[in-house]
Amino acid sequence: MSTKINEEKKKCKIACLVKIAGIVFFVAGLLIAAACYYTLYVTTKPAEYLAPPAYNPAPGKNDFKITVFGDWMLHEGAIGKIAAESHRRNAAFAVCLGDFVHPAQPSIMKIAAKKLKKHFKIPVYATPGNHDVYNAEDAAGFAAVFGNINNCFSYGDTLFILLESAKVGLSDEQLQFLKFVLTNERPKYSRCVVFSHVPPVTIPEFDKPKYRLKKETAEKYLKILEEGNVDLLVCGHVHHEMNIQLGKTRLLVCPPSGQGSRNKKNPQFGSLQLHFMPDGSIKHEFVYCGTEVKGTGFEKFLYRRLNQHTILFSVSLALLLLGGACILLGNAKKTDA
Ligand SMILES: [Fe+2]
Repeated sequence: MSTKINEEKKKCKIACLVKIAGIVFFVAGLLIAAACYYTLYVTTKPAEYLAPPAYNPAPGKNDFKITVFGDWMLHEGAIGKIAAESHRRNAAFAVCLGDFVHPAQPSIMKIAAKKLKKHFKIPVYATPGNHDVYNAEDAAGFAAVFGNINNCFSYGDTLFILLESAKVGLSDEQLQFLKFVLTNERPKYSRCVVFSHVPPVTIPEFDKPKYRLKKETAEKYLKILEEGNVDLLVCGHVHHEMNIQLGKTRLLVCPPSGQGSRNKKNPQFGSLQLHFMPDGSIKHEFVYCGTEVKGTGFEKFLYRRLNQHTILFSVSLALLLLGGACILLGNAKKTDA
């Protein structure tokens, strides 16, 4: 008799523990889902919009500075310093070369825009990186915040072109777009700069398909840049600064601004500061800002890993665990009766 009572007590105790565990997991699941929902939907309202203007804010100006950075993955340590440097130099605007987040979600692109606005007091335009845009939904999400993924705008006496190379490639349609803009708009300006995430060529150390465009595409691309009188092509992606003269066009590749550097001699984050000189030349300087990566692991987890699926998964798992715990407890009570 006493053994039976002890067994039932044991069953009851186990059922209680399972119920407590179920409740704990249930609450944890709801908290994760709520944090994810809050991050994705509440903190991103109203939507941020950082597309370049359709007009030239300083027509004819031939002496101005801009800042270029990229490959930052929402790490704010370097971004704050790059923005401060940009303000110190009185840059007119900044351009981000992509690789904001992995995987990209439209709402996370809004968070990216919000973070940029927090640090920069000047306009920031952007072209997507291979981590940002995988499919049409990502492209639409990117465009909703940063404007057309293939775009052009002007500032002063210079034409700027943003060319999406997020899939480590350029389609024939994109090359046609580039050719069209260069044929029709380039003659109206003294200088022309193209921004695109993936470079067409690299220094020998990084001459691998994952770091550059396919050779066949690169050849067509370089011909269009040469014939279109492009002064400067600025890219990111490789996480190693480069300076290569390609015919009339100079290629500059930026150091990363938050993702790990592949430069073993100088693994610092940094930016590219450009000075458009009155004599028509474009002076460049790579400016470094240390290796500090700001932001907690939890924040990075929230921004980079959680999405709508995680909300659904957290709630489902929590309900499943609570339901299982209730069934087990119910069975134990039945045994008691
Ligand atoms: Fe990249």
